[in-house]
Amino acid sequence: MNSIKLWINSQEVEAQPDETVLQAADRAGIPIPRLCAHPWLKASGSCRLCAVEIDHHRGLPAACTTPVQEGMRVWTDSAKVLDFRREMIRLILQEHPRDCLGCWRNGTCELQHLVELVGIDFPYDPPHVSPGDTLPAGPYFERDPRLCVRCGRCVRVCHEVRGAGVLVFRESNGKQEVGTAFGRSLQDAGCQFCGACVDVCPVAALREPLPAYSHRARETISETCAGLAEIVMELYRKELPRKRQESICPICSAHCPMSFEMSGSGRIIQVRPVSGTDANAGQACVQGRFLLKEHLQGAERVQKPLVFEDGQYREIDWASALDEFAHRLSACGPLKTALLTNARLTNEELFVLRKFARTVLRSNLVGCLSPPGHSAMEETIAAGSSSTGVRGRLADLSLAGTAFAIGVNPPATHPIGGVLLRQVSLNGTRLIAANPCPVSLGRFADMALSYVPGTEAPLLWGLMHVMLREGRVDPSLKTREPKLLGRLQQDLGAFEPEAVAAITGVPSEQLVETACLFGGEKPVSILYGRGLLESPNCREAARAMIALLALTGSLGKAGGGMIPLYGDSNLRGATVLDMTSPLFDFSPGCQGMAPHLSGGLAEMLASGQIKVLYLAMESSDASSFQTLRPYLEKVDYVVLHDCVAPSWQTAGEGGGAPHLVLPMASAVEKGGTFIGSDGLLLHIPRLGSRIPEGKSALRVVEELAGRMGVDGFSVQSEESFLEDVRQEAFERTVRVNKPREPIADSHCGGTPLEQQVADQGRGILEWIPMHWELAPLVLDCSYPFRGIAKEALVPYFLGPLLAREATSVFYPDAAIEMNPSDVFRLGLQPGDAVRACSSKKEWEGRLGLNPIIPQGFVVLPPHEFTFSEMSGLACSGFAVRVQKIGESLND
Ligand code: SF4
Ligand code: SF4
Ligand code: SF4
Ligand code: FES
Repeated sequence: MNSIKLWINSQEVEAQPDETVLQAADRAGIPIPRLCAHPWLKASGSCRLCAVEIDHHRGLPAACTTPVQEGMRVWTDSAKVLDFRREMIRLILQEHPRDCLGCWRNGTCELQHLVELVGIDFPYDPPHVSPGDTLPAGPYFERDPRLCVRCGRCVRVCHEVRGAGVLVFRESNGKQEVGTAFGRSLQDAGCQFCGACVDVCPVAALREPLPAYSHRARETISETCAGLAEIVMELYRKELPRKRQESICPICSAHCPMSFEMSGSGRIIQVRPVSGTDANAGQACVQGRFLLKEHLQGAERVQKPLVFEDGQYREIDWASALDEFAHRLSACGPLKTALLTNARLTNEELFVLRKFARTVLRSNLVGCLSPPGHSAMEETIAAGSSSTGVRGRLADLSLAGTAFAIGVNPPATHPIGGVLLRQVSLNGTRLIAANPCPVSLGRFADMALSYVPGTEAPLLWGLMHVMLREGRVDPSLKTREPKLLGRLQQDLGAFEPEAVAAITGVPSEQLVETACLFGGEKPVSILYGRGLLESPNCREAARAMIALLALTGSLGKAGGGMIPLYGDSNLRGATVLDMTSPLFDFSPGCQGMAPHLSGGLAEMLASGQIKVLYLAMESSDASSFQTLRPYLEKVDYVVLHDCVAPSWQTAGEGGGAPHLVLPMASAVEKGGTFIGSDGLLLHIPRLGSRIPEGKSALRVVEELAGRMGVDGFSVQSEESFLEDVRQEAFERTVRVNKPREPIADSHCGGTPLEQQVADQGRGILEWIPMHWELAPLVLDCSYPFRGIAKEALVPYFLGPLLAREATSVFYPDAAIEMNPSDVFRLGLQPGDAVRACSSKKEWEGRLGLNPIIPQGFVVLPPHEFTFSEMSGLACSGFAVRVQKIGESLND
């Protein structure tokens, strides 16, 4: 693009033709005040503070919305402009309280900076603003409408960036005020508690309450005379924010870059997303933004080694703890020990744990607890990608013509994926959201499909059937892959839209319309989550996804491919390092269902075959340990090496209390590397550790090996195994006969190796015929509803977030839930005692309304099903009727 020239305050400035005057001035270092503008947001031109004078232009245009023009002459500091800005600021200050000294944004407030920049000197009376209370705004932040300057940033970020659309401007006492539609609570309005609105607010109208001591310090200062203030400052100086350090959020695979604001004593005061990074578009989620600091320094953090004796835990020193641990390991024969992690450890730790287990303990039971279906999916992708390059990258999503999100609710389970989907959909990428129940993504998708849980594979086959029929496939396939095309046409022939509609519950017209959203020059990205993984036909669905990518010519193209939106921070690293397998798949369980392991490992633990179990984890919520707890009673010696210890663990309640608890250092405290879901190696910048006794698994293995008289495990630095890890990752990522290269390093801007693989082998695909009985569920007037177990919906919805879906799907008091329109059509009321009957089974309980549940469905309590029933039911549900207790069928 040819640049153009303009003059700002007589300075010649170069700009790109698509830039605004404000952007051009910013690049030239010419300051222009602003309030409503923010780098994450589209310009709105509402505050008028960026007004400038432009020769031959009428009035004072807003610099943030005025495009540059060749030869334009702009004045940012003429008397007219300065007067106008002062007047705009005066209007704001007329209503704004002046107790800046007691405000926690004092010093970082953008309004203060504006006043300084514009040069106003407070010749106006302070406004009469009653102190008033701050308003609650959910569990993580609060709001003070008196401070709001109505810049609209919060409303726009919530809508434009997060796609949540929770905040709106409302009329209150004749003034515009930020709130939710109809004054609903943030939870009810669908808030993700991501904190993006707090981060863009220029003043303290939306704010995260800082620790009481910090806030109190400022208040105290404001109320005290200047001399005393110095003394008070000195007293509190240690805890006032003083330094920032950048690292990442170590919780999920999005690896959001975060800025940690720490007091002089090293305590983390606030954690905020780093702006201007591609990785997360400057965004985070409730976990990283608000909960991470609690995870790192909360009361549940294990501080010292603890040994369980006489029904309770007591502190013990590291040396004695490791002596006993090493002794127990030495006393075990081969195959009597197991080492388990939860995919939040670094690559270096995973590598060393595996090496230690296999070479010293002579045990193959070493691995990461991973979501059910993960291993099956990885195996299927590995088989597919041996020649085709199936994996896509979130970073390339903007290059996709169509983004297809299936079995996933990104705003709840992978918020950064949700943000990127929102961005690309605003920029013209077609978006399809497919999930059993309506999800937030559907609000801005071009097509939102609701299908019966577990019918992902037939849904995909149905779509491909229509694409083949309508000729919406890559034209080059005819010559490149005639055999594949023939096989698909033959195998998918039976999956007419009407037949697929009967299985999946998606109307045939919607299927045809959706199929028409595929095709064109640009590739297709398929994003999937836990819902798809836990589907009983996960493997078939994975193969169908690969075939769909082949049909659309998306394999091996940037912007095309399969993108997982689930998982702990280093699940990909654990997979690459051979630490995941179906043996370690687990389901974390939910209301009414105990967490469960897959058969193999559960049986081995329960049989008493395992004598010593080492659990090396970084849990943020102890759910990994909860999963294992029912199986631990038969193990002679259990060592839990973790960051958090839920109270029941330390109190030794119930069976399965670990014999030894060791404090784990978090990934951000020990440093090392993760492998991102895009295959890039990511270095974890290290923060100063707050847990002096926390150790990494590397250090523990080193000390155990020393005590057991084994060489080869001494650690020079936490990252000294990096080369081994790179080599290992390389061996597993690159196919044989490919040029050798270390795994790409994100800090060097490398390209994922899979992309190379893809480029070299694009287009060769083995189609494995699918197995599916065309047996649609028959609903009739006797049994008109489709009954499903509540458990079948969990993986489609539950992320760790407090999204609206999570709270309302699991409406606590109702045993049986239905869509409100079905309830009222039957003449029932919420809270009625009802009976749901299938031809084989009956359920009774109170009826709850749940707008998330699609019409025609009845959701039943999970604890009434056995595990085998659950697996079967998730496929298609079963026909039921619902009636009020006491009414006969004919009433
Ligand atoms: S926290 Fe996020 S979702 Fe909630 S209102 Fe703010 S921007 Fe919107
Ligand atoms: S709450 Fe903050 S971001 Fe929202 S309009 Fe008011 S000042 Fe602007
Ligand atoms: S999206 Fe993941 S990495 Fe980012 S803040 Fe949330 S939990 Fe942390
Ligand atoms: S910053 Fe340009 S109008 Fe507000």
